Amino acid sequence: MPESIVILTGAGVSAESGLGTFRDTGGIWDQYSLEDVATPEGFARNPALVHDFYNARREQAAEARPNPAHEALARLERQLPGRVTLVTQNIDGLHERAGSRSVYPMHGRVDQALCTACAHGWQSPSRLSTQATCPACGQTTCRPDVVWFGEVPYHLDAIERALLRATQLVVIGTSGTVYPAAGFVEVASQVGTHTVEINLTASEVSDAFDRVIEGPASQAVPAWVDEVLG
Ligand code: APR
Repeated sequence: MPESIVILTGAGVSAESGLGTFRDTGGIWDQYSLEDVATPEGFARNPALVHDFYNARREQAAEARPNPAHEALARLERQLPGRVTLVTQNIDGLHERAGSRSVYPMHGRVDQALCTACAHGWQSPSRLSTQATCPACGQTTCRPDVVWFGEVPYHLDAIERALLRATQLVVIGTSGTVYPAAGFVEVASQVGTHTVEINLTASEVSDAFDRVIEGPASQAVPAWVDEVLG
């Protein structure tokens, strides 16, 4: 069977592009209340606060540049056409900007907007607000097209299909605490897929993997890609 690789990335892959992670010390969830800015209930209570939070995320993502980890994953896909599926929990768009094409951004994209009235999606302006109008229906019902806690992630059917036919699952820079992504390693293990974790330091879920590679993503990921490509 030819190699078929599913890669799952989290905030750690973008840390060296200058974007903060969530649960590391001093991370985003030390600075903001997750319930306030990343739940539908928080948005209903105070949409202006939520817009401010994602306006800042959008600006930081736009200013950030892909790092060698993003670039190595794009190189892997180019060298193994049709055999690499990249699933990311990140909303920053850096994988796509590095040149990856087969990307499932399961938690949405901060540079996209969504109308809660008519479900129209479009490229977000740099700042969204409670006054922003949907270009399709004209209502002031705009939100960032990101997946909040309590909502269903995007692309789950396609991701599951890719996972079930994968020969290798590689999980990079995620704490493995947010489901369903955190459960991918169990799904893969159950069907005998080789599992690899790449993280700055062994995570709380490292025991679930066949192999653990410790190191900063900007070095560990290019080294792993070189190994795969021989
Ligand atoms: N290289 C590799 N890994 C790193 C690096 C680095 N330079 N820096 C940090 N990490 C690792 C940390 O060790 C940690 O395990 O990245 C992980 C970041 O974990 P989290 O902050 O929990 O981020 P993530 O797992 O992506 O969060 C999942 O939670 O809040 C939600 O929706 C948000 O998509 C996010 C989800």
